[in-house]
Amino acid sequence: MATTIAVLSQKGGTGKTTTVRSLADIFSRLGLDVLAVDLDPQGNLSSYFEIPIGASPTIADVLTFRATAERAVHGPLIPANQSLAAAELELQGNRHATLKTRLRDVTRLYDVVLIDCPPSRGLLAINALVAADHALVTTNAQYFSLQGVEQMLDMIELTCEDLNPRLTWLGVVMNIADLRTLHSREVLATLRESFGPKVFETVIRQSIRYAESAQHGTPIIEYSPRVGADYLALADELLHRLGMPAGRRKLRGLRGELVPA
Ligand SMILES: Nc1ncnc2c1ncn2[C@@H]1O[C@H](COP(=O)(O)OP(=O)(O)OP(=O)(O)O)[C@@H](O)[C@H]1O
Ligand SMILES: [Mg+2]
Repeated sequence: MATTIAVLSQKGGTGKTTTVRSLADIFSRLGLDVLAVDLDPQGNLSSYFEIPIGASPTIADVLTFRATAERAVHGPLIPANQSLAAAELELQGNRHATLKTRLRDVTRLYDVVLIDCPPSRGLLAINALVAADHALVTTNAQYFSLQGVEQMLDMIELTCEDLNPRLTWLGVVMNIADLRTLHSREVLATLRESFGPKVFETVIRQSIRYAESAQHGTPIIEYSPRVGADYLALADELLHRLGMPAGRRKLRGLRGELVPA
């Protein structure tokens, strides 16, 4: 059975999609079988994987029982598009576990499943948390984002109590940060005061290379290994928190190949 990780933030533009794309790439380079799930009607992850806009079936068809998850897998991804917004409305009611149930058959075939959530605490995000073993929260280096982290953590705790007792919070990663600015450093310090060791040591630095890599549909490690090294460090911390030492050993080799000292 795969380890399923939901990547979430309440606020938009905190680097969720980039995190899922980058980690999916790194984990598959380590020899893991990875499935990425686009659970955002914006479909950004699907574009980053260069899946054609009209690709079908999508995660919306899976959630509304029009297709099996197996049929909706396109390469390493189950894509999404705007139709997911309508599917979310169809889900209304007490349908928190639909994603978990509908993904069950395919998750058996993978080592890791990464779910890219929309920027909200709505029903899609709850479905992701019910389907997941672990939640990874992203935040950017802005003061208002801290409140968003607090609220997301409340939601994770509630989901854990009421709907998914095996869910754990992996931590929060500071993303798109320019630590040359005092504001970013202050936000990071406040984050560490509030959440202690739950804050990843790795900070993903701001770089225009990310937007360019998305535009080219190329993962950051390939587009700019020097910039993408931040995600290698994050992957290492994640593998540590997930208790996967073999992955960490392989990662050291991968870093040596990709980022010459
Ligand atoms: N480290 C970074 N430095 C600079 N820009 C970045 C970085 N990571 C991501 N970006 C860019 O910031 C924008 C938002 O990133 P991304 O789409 O990953 O965030 P998101 O949290 O998924 O957004 P949404 O909430 O809209 O789904 C994108 O244009 C992306 O290319
Ligand atoms: Mg996104």
